[in-house]
Amino acid sequence: MSTSAPGTTDTVLHRADLGVQLDPTRLFGRSGPLVLEVGFGDGTFLVHLAEAHPDWNLLGAEVSLGSVARAFRRLRRHGVRHARLYRGDAQFLVRDVLPPGRLHRIYVNFPDPWPKKRHRDRRLLQVPFFRLAASRLEDGGTILFTSDHQEYFAFALEQAEASGCYAIAQAAPPPATLTTKYARKWRAQDKQIQHAIFTKTRTPDASFAPVIDTYDAMHHALFQGTLPEIDTFEKHVHAFDDGHVILLEAFRPVDGEGLLFVVRIEEPDLTQEILIEVRPSDGQYIVTVKAWGQPLATRGTREAVGLVARWLRERGMTEVERFY
Ligand SMILES: C[S@@+](CC[C@H](N)C(=O)[O-])C[C@H]1O[C@@H](n2cnc3c(N)ncnc32)[C@H](O)[C@@H]1O
Repeated sequence: MSTSAPGTTDTVLHRADLGVQLDPTRLFGRSGPLVLEVGFGDGTFLVHLAEAHPDWNLLGAEVSLGSVARAFRRLRRHGVRHARLYRGDAQFLVRDVLPPGRLHRIYVNFPDPWPKKRHRDRRLLQVPFFRLAASRLEDGGTILFTSDHQEYFAFALEQAEASGCYAIAQAAPPPATLTTKYARKWRAQDKQIQHAIFTKTRTPDASFAPVIDTYDAMHHALFQGTLPEIDTFEKHVHAFDDGHVILLEAFRPVDGEGLLFVVRIEEPDLTQEILIEVRPSDGQYIVTVKAWGQPLATRGTREAVGLVARWLRERGMTEVERFY
């Protein structure tokens, strides 16, 4: 693999800028082992990886915007040019953006343990993530997991085993994993820190197709007729194959023109809260997803626009065009 100097300098990736199934060679301006850190926090470990492995192309995913800003400044201070940061859910990045079989390694250092029983389904390291990750890891690729939480550690090992895609080994934590912000915190409390290596042995049968439908156009519809009044609105829930849409609220905008629907869409590895607008235009009404919140066109937005369209049809309006 070539390890020439990376050709791009834009460090922070934006969700709307990502193409479906990213070409890592284009993103980094070179080829090289692609390595992801999930939940990089303040970026201490990413900087370590960058300095220890100048030939690796590093991706980091982190949901906290404050952490992304801190890590970004740290990478800049250290002159790191071969790392890219994504602000958002790592599962979405892995599923929608990373091509199958391309990841060399995934690091997960001190993931949130969600110790309460009723919160356990929020844990990252569960069968669905292990299987999704196995679809994106190269053969023999690894997930390296370090944790201070004994119960989550045992749980993650069981889940990896149940996924049927990994050989599992335990080892002493690599010294650099003991220098992260959380490692320092737990070590100061004398907590035992454990480390596991999950080596991919099998590609799962499911392909884990991206959730995004298209980047070219957002779902919409065109209506004629009289806009219904809304005195009261009851929440609508609509389930489809592996997700659901909830129309939470509908109201008239302040200018009294048209309607706005507040919608929540839950799909595999992606939850979106969007606004669907019914807006007058040339004597007709356009039903569109507002750009607010950088919505992505998915099966869910198609179902949501379809649900609003049905709501309008049921109230006597005529659909003259549809893209959903
Ligand atoms: C306990 S902190 C550990 C941070 C860092 N790895 C360290 O060792 O200092 C867990 C981090 O994971 C991030 N996180 C949680 N769920 C995530 C997800 N689904 N995708 C990306 N980051 C996530 C949190 O925002 C938080 O910064």
